Amino acid sequence: MLENLHKLRDKALHALESITDSEELENWRIEHLGRKSELSQILRNLGQLSPEERPAVGQLANEVKLALEAAYDDKAKVLKREELERALREQRIDVTLPGRPVSLGRLHLTTQTLREIYAIFGQMGFQVYESPDVETDELNFGLLNMPPHHPARDMWDTFWISDEVLLRTHTSPGQIRVMRERYPEPIRVILPGKCYRYEQVTARSEHQFYQVEGLAVGHAITLTDLIGTLTEFARRLYGPQRRIRIRGSYFPFTEPSIEADMDCILCGGEGCRVCRYSGWLEVCGAGMVHPVVLQNGGYDPDEWSGFAFGLGVERPAMVKYNIDDIRLFYGNDLRFLRQF
Ligand code: DAH
Repeated sequence: MLENLHKLRDKALHALESITDSEELENWRIEHLGRKSELSQILRNLGQLSPEERPAVGQLANEVKLALEAAYDDKAKVLKREELERALREQRIDVTLPGRPVSLGRLHLTTQTLREIYAIFGQMGFQVYESPDVETDELNFGLLNMPPHHPARDMWDTFWISDEVLLRTHTSPGQIRVMRERYPEPIRVILPGKCYRYEQVTARSEHQFYQVEGLAVGHAITLTDLIGTLTEFARRLYGPQRRIRIRGSYFPFTEPSIEADMDCILCGGEGCRVCRYSGWLEVCGAGMVHPVVLQNGGYDPDEWSGFAFGLGVERPAMVKYNIDDIRLFYGNDLRFLRQF
């Protein structure tokens, strides 16, 4: 019996040596230390041995059990470490892999142009005032001195939402909103934003585009203030040599009304493709705020006067970068957008 125990121990320890993972180790434990193992049976049946045999067998059997348990614990530790090392090795993050590039967006050319315009007018003391794209007929037309059926409405056809609500055709309705909000303060603001017109889309006109409206209201503001402001604007945007030309015009919300041109930035007035051989580029429509409009804004025209203008935003960018089709601004083509 004692020899049997020695053999049993040697066999078990030998089997333990070749074990390489925890599953095999568990099988080994069941086989050699489990309830049905030979060793357990021997221990369980000690009572059936003769009183002479029992002490020696009992002692050895317990020693074998302790030895096997100790060997099991050691092996379990070794395996656990090996398995951890393997996992670390196999699941390691390869820090030498090149990262995925983060694609950076950029500002749309229109946004860049708007920001240049804000900066220039900001230096001249104009605040930015935002007003809504969806307007009422009354603000877009009526309060700007174009009552229903006024023929001037034909200059601006738009997208109607209902009989009274529409997408604004110009930023001018913002004039009324600022005046009503600021009265009786003097006003110096620009009103940037998108405008909409129901018209055929061509290389030169879109059904949506940006404008920057300007409005100054105060005491004794004159046409020369307007011309000075526009000249300064053109010079800051396109260089100090720019010249401005003023032509008489008509808008229902200004009296007198003018249009301002500047000498062509490409040919300086000689005539070229960009200015269509006229030597001049259109800058904006403008004028002295009509007394009726001042009154609609809450300002008494006998005491107050003001000027207003409406600049295009895409057009100047087209001139500056020699872009020949306004549809590119809204086409979402990255090949175009990435150039700016
Ligand atoms: N609202 C006009 C348009 O869209 C542009 C304009 C002209 C605005 C004269 C003004 C102005 O403020 O005084 O065609």
